[in-house]
Amino acid sequence: MAEELLPETPETVSDQAADAADEEPIKQRKNGLYPGVSDELAENMKSGWADTELHGLEPIPQAAHTADRRAALSRRFPGERLVIPAGNLKTRSNDTEYAFRPSTEYAYLTGDHTQDGVLVLEPEKDGGHRATVYLLPRSNRENGEFWLDGQGELWVGRRHSLTEAEQLLGIPAKDVRELPAHLAGATGPVRVVRGHDAGVEKALTDKVTAERDEELRVYLSEARLVKDAFEIGELQRACDSTARGFEDVVRVLDKAEATSERYIEGTFFLRARVEGNDIGYGSICAAGPHATTLHWVRNDGPVRSGDLLLLDAGVETTTLYTADVTRTLPVNGRYSDLQRKIYDAVYEAQEAGIAAVKPGAGYRDFHDASQRVLAEKLVEWGLVEGPVERVLELGLQRRWTLHGTGHMLGMDVHDCAAARTETYVEGTLEPGMCLTVEPGLYFQADDMTVPEEYRGIGVRIEDDILVTEDGNRNLSAALPRRSDEVEAWMAALKG
Ligand code: GLY
Ligand code: MN
Ligand code: MN
Repeated sequence: MAEELLPETPETVSDQAADAADEEPIKQRKNGLYPGVSDELAENMKSGWADTELHGLEPIPQAAHTADRRAALSRRFPGERLVIPAGNLKTRSNDTEYAFRPSTEYAYLTGDHTQDGVLVLEPEKDGGHRATVYLLPRSNRENGEFWLDGQGELWVGRRHSLTEAEQLLGIPAKDVRELPAHLAGATGPVRVVRGHDAGVEKALTDKVTAERDEELRVYLSEARLVKDAFEIGELQRACDSTARGFEDVVRVLDKAEATSERYIEGTFFLRARVEGNDIGYGSICAAGPHATTLHWVRNDGPVRSGDLLLLDAGVETTTLYTADVTRTLPVNGRYSDLQRKIYDAVYEAQEAGIAAVKPGAGYRDFHDASQRVLAEKLVEWGLVEGPVERVLELGLQRRWTLHGTGHMLGMDVHDCAAARTETYVEGTLEPGMCLTVEPGLYFQADDMTVPEEYRGIGVRIEDDILVTEDGNRNLSAALPRRSDEVEAWMAALKG
């Protein structure tokens, strides 16, 4: 990677405000900091560039949906100014940044993914709100920002002009460098989504309270509990892409055996980057006993014939919806008798869990249904003393089931995490909710309470289940789940 001619740290909104106030060209302002830039070159770089403004752009597909979401937000907080930042770049080292992903709240309400963007809903006198998205406009060529600033378009690529952004998002756009002054002059109640943009929060320090801001965050989490038609389509696309990523992995298992779990991680990542935005969370590529470590993301272990591979991975679409799917596969294409016994038990538990996903059911019902099956199996195998009711009451099965049986899924893998207990964990399932059903059994390699042959076996099966009007739909059904079907699928892929 080329080093920037004139490295700059990324600007925050407050820095940008300072820049905007200072009309002097960058080169003069940073007097002496830019050796090697002659006046002639600086002058030369100002002109000779074609007008590349794009005209007649169509709105992005989700624009109508984001308008509905903003209207619902407006109804919830009448008369209040609402500020929802996208967030800023995070430095990896020096002038190198981590890949940017906008805050879920900002992307949900705008469909935009631009760093430093801020959505502001201003209350209107006669009710409702006027939305404005504050963005960094095209780079200025006159003052040198275009090529002398680390975030200039010459370095990081063309941005949309504010007019283009308005057309794409269906939201009036203004220069983000005007925002601090605007917020400073604002009167009346304000709320901001915290944790994304320190500059914006600083500009609002005296106007907001943590408690009121939390109510905004909670609302935006709960608003996402029920997905709209666009979101359901995107979750399906995420699952379809993810299924192709799993197929990619099966096709290269011999290469993973020759190298490590990293080959699996890299193979899935390729699919995620080519078809989507990214992976939705760190892929868990856990072979052999690593499958018993719930969040095994180091992925640096061996992949051996005769072992199981637990692959928990999800493609995040370009619109930022992620799948979250797990399959536990026999590396050599065939489960051993004991692996099959444990796998089939988890499958049975998942079937019971999926059957409990329907409108009107309690959110906890699918977890309880899966846990009951797993407890029954553990008692049947003599690993824990029955009766099953006693095991469930005391939670004794949890030594081997370890985690909850699922969670809401959407733009965040653990979606709607700020929702209140009464609307989520103690709530009722409704059509449009999407959740994972992911029971597992995990026998740690050092668990002396189980027979030796169980030790080091971990199995999880995870699917993404949409609550429909009359039951549910498995969005990740393209991937087989039954042990014999998994084997047949693997055999077909390996040729
Ligand atoms: N991949 C994380 C989870 O299954 O929740
Ligand atoms: Mn998962
Ligand atoms: Mn999950």
